[in-house]
Amino acid sequence: MQRLPPLSGILALPLLFLFLTSTTNAHNITRILAKHPEFSTFNHYLTATHLASEINRRRTITILAIDNAAMASLLSKHLGLYTLKNVLSLHVLVDYFGAKKLHQLTGGTTLTASMFQSTGAAAGTSGYVNITNLKGGKVGFGTEDNEGPLNAVYVKSISEDPYNIAVLQISHALTSAEAEAPTPGPSQLNLTAIMSKQGCKAFADLLTATKAGPTFKETIDGGLTVFCPTDKAVNDFLPKYKNLTEAKKVSLLLYHGIPVYQSLQTLKSSNGVVNTLATDGANKYDFTVQDDGEVVTLETKVNTAKITGTLMDQDPLIVFMIDKVLMPRELFKKAAAAEAPVEAPAESPKPAKKNKKKVKAADAPKSDDEEADAPEADSDDLKAADDENGVSGLDGRSLMTGILSLLMVALVL
Ligand SMILES: *[C@@H]1O[C@H](CO)[C@@H](O)[C@H](O)[C@H]1NC(C)=O
Ligand SMILES: *[C@@H]1O[C@H](CO)[C@@H](O)[C@H](O)[C@H]1NC(C)=O
Ligand SMILES: *[C@@H]1O[C@H](CO)[C@@H](O)[C@H](O)[C@H]1NC(C)=O
Ligand SMILES: *[C@@H]1O[C@H](CO)[C@@H](O)[C@H](O)[C@H]1NC(C)=O
Repeated sequence: MQRLPPLSGILALPLLFLFLTSTTNAHNITRILAKHPEFSTFNHYLTATHLASEINRRRTITILAIDNAAMASLLSKHLGLYTLKNVLSLHVLVDYFGAKKLHQLTGGTTLTASMFQSTGAAAGTSGYVNITNLKGGKVGFGTEDNEGPLNAVYVKSISEDPYNIAVLQISHALTSAEAEAPTPGPSQLNLTAIMSKQGCKAFADLLTATKAGPTFKETIDGGLTVFCPTDKAVNDFLPKYKNLTEAKKVSLLLYHGIPVYQSLQTLKSSNGVVNTLATDGANKYDFTVQDDGEVVTLETKVNTAKITGTLMDQDPLIVFMIDKVLMPRELFKKAAAAEAPVEAPAESPKPAKKNKKKVKAADAPKSDDEEADAPEADSDDLKAADDENGVSGLDGRSLMTGILSLLMVALVL
């Protein structure tokens, strides 16, 4: 009975710690490394390859940093930027290794996945990093497809934020034939082929047949998010599509891209109006991104589509699949009026939000005449979403309070 309290205290503390750290995700690798000028080259290339933002989005990771001298010898191989990105992503382990865990590996050795492996760029076991406890307290690192030689050793810990991010220095760059194989830049990726292979062939064919295709391609390097409707959605929509003039067809297709890389997480956390590739001065061609719990919806003034999957995610290009063709109000204002009774039921999940019954009743038989109401309803929706966030924040806090009081009870006992 007397031994119980300290034990539960010991058990509760790491739990509480885990809980605390899992709620703080604001690490910034650029800032962490900026305090250590001997890693300035490594830091520079994390930013240049967009790896920094991928690192900042993730938790439970370990960065194996190499100093300026080791970077100089890696750079002397004159790898292209996208190949260098693959090599550097071998240095981002998707697990947490503080200095302590590193020296206490179960069985003295382990294979752990790197970001090169987890982004699907690597085939087979390449992309796994072998970590082995060596004689004299040393820790060796090597890539699995290197078969044997552990060409780098642990030097020191630079920064540790337990279970969130550890930054360790290793002596040399990790090498792997696969990571060093020439990689096409994103603008050389065949966007239409990527979409065609994964259920968006109809949309890809429309892009290829118009001037919208080249515009998408030219935008990739600067950042591009594509929302491609499924083949079924496009085929159902074809009669309406064929009715559009050539210029309007292009606008409709461009409406399905936004000229910036937006991960699913970013979309979830940034509800609001976004411009598209079709946006041109007064022709706004925008839509509203709305996070409905686990689902992200795209709401035009005419219809609402749902994100149903991610076809590829390789910063600066990301391609999502959606369940409907997005209909901009610039093109379908009249059609919307004629088809309001058809479209309305499809939209009913949207106004079905809690505490919005009044708006729902007004919305249901809505047609063009009531369009002026729409923006108002939207801002209500945004407020409702805010409220929900507030509530979930409170939930977090009360859970926290619960854990704290449990801890107190344990300590008092
Ligand atoms: C990270 O830190 C760098 C340098 O302080 C800053 O320029 C950058 O905007 C930060 N990134 C984020 C996402 O806060
Ligand atoms: C890691 O590499 C060492 C040395 O080549 C080897 O002995 C060990 O079995 C490897 N570890 C794993 C988990 O494959
Ligand atoms: C992209 O792939 C398609 C097949 O999906 C092919 O027809 C086209 O020629 C390719 N384009 C380029 C630039 O390689
Ligand atoms: C095509 O346009 C005509 C004339 O604007 C319209 O009457 C017809 O309903 C449209 N068809 C479809 C499928 O939208």
